[in-house]
Amino acid sequence: MTTILATWREPGKVAVDAAWQAQESGADLKTIIELGLAACELDPELLAIGLGALPNADGELELDAAIMDGADLSAGAVCAMRGIVPAISVARKVMEETRHVMLAGDQARRFAIAKGLRPQNLMTTENCRRFAEWQKTPEGTTDSYHHAVDGNNHGDTVTMLGLDSTGHMIAASSTSGLQWKLPGRVGDSPIVGAGIYADDEVGCAGATGLGEELWKACASFRTVEGMRRGLSPLEACQDTVRHMKRRQKHATDMPCVVLALGKDGTFGAATTQGEFPLWISKDGVQELVVYRAEDVA
Ligand code: GLY
Repeated sequence: MTTILATWREPGKVAVDAAWQAQESGADLKTIIELGLAACELDPELLAIGLGALPNADGELELDAAIMDGADLSAGAVCAMRGIVPAISVARKVMEETRHVMLAGDQARRFAIAKGLRPQNLMTTENCRRFAEWQKTPEGTTDSYHHAVDGNNHGDTVTMLGLDSTGHMIAASSTSGLQWKLPGRVGDSPIVGAGIYADDEVGCAGATGLGEELWKACASFRTVEGMRRGLSPLEACQDTVRHMKRRQKHATDMPCVVLALGKDGTFGAATTQGEFPLWISKDGVQELVVYRAEDVA
């Protein structure tokens, strides 16, 4: 049995559908997850990730992505990379083809081009229209936060967790970050321990939502360590959210979500605010589970 988790209603569906297609064609877990996220990045309709996502305050898309392999804790990431999709494929190349964990900005782009990815314009008619609209009353770069989470449909960062029949686990994430962010801003998603963490000894975890707060909490590592102490995936997520609400005054400014998958296939998620829809796919049998802030006492 292969279990895949993917965040948010619309992008998560694209991710689990593409992941199942990859699984059916015999791909390994790392490739299943990579192709799931790549499908989201290449879909111009999804506003929070890759092509057509909402840009920074300069009207440019700066993408972040990361992948971690629970077998040996190897990891690769890119941040603030412009004009290249899928960013997750570049992150995988950083993991597998360099001795480093992260490449940033223009040098990440240069690495991607050297590895054969094609630079392209990631702006579309729709995200240009939304950017022009925002410019009429610009706000939200420094004193408040904005993600493309309206209606829980467009979603935010797409984070995927996977477990295969051998007990092997992968965590990965891809995002365009906060919409209208200060140029150069990087959130939790490409940061190992914040946006993702995977350890085959225990389980894996990921995050989505307000990156500054999730990063301060080391949310994914904290959640995996909760499971290591014996908490279930759901209890570990709730424990992280409780900690954030107790210690971080901005933890409820926007949803801060953690999700986790145990090595036994159990899973869970928790959010500091609002509702969070999570797709679960077990050998292609899909289910959408909605977690609510009220669930965390
Ligand atoms: N969680 C994605 C970000 O804040 O950039």
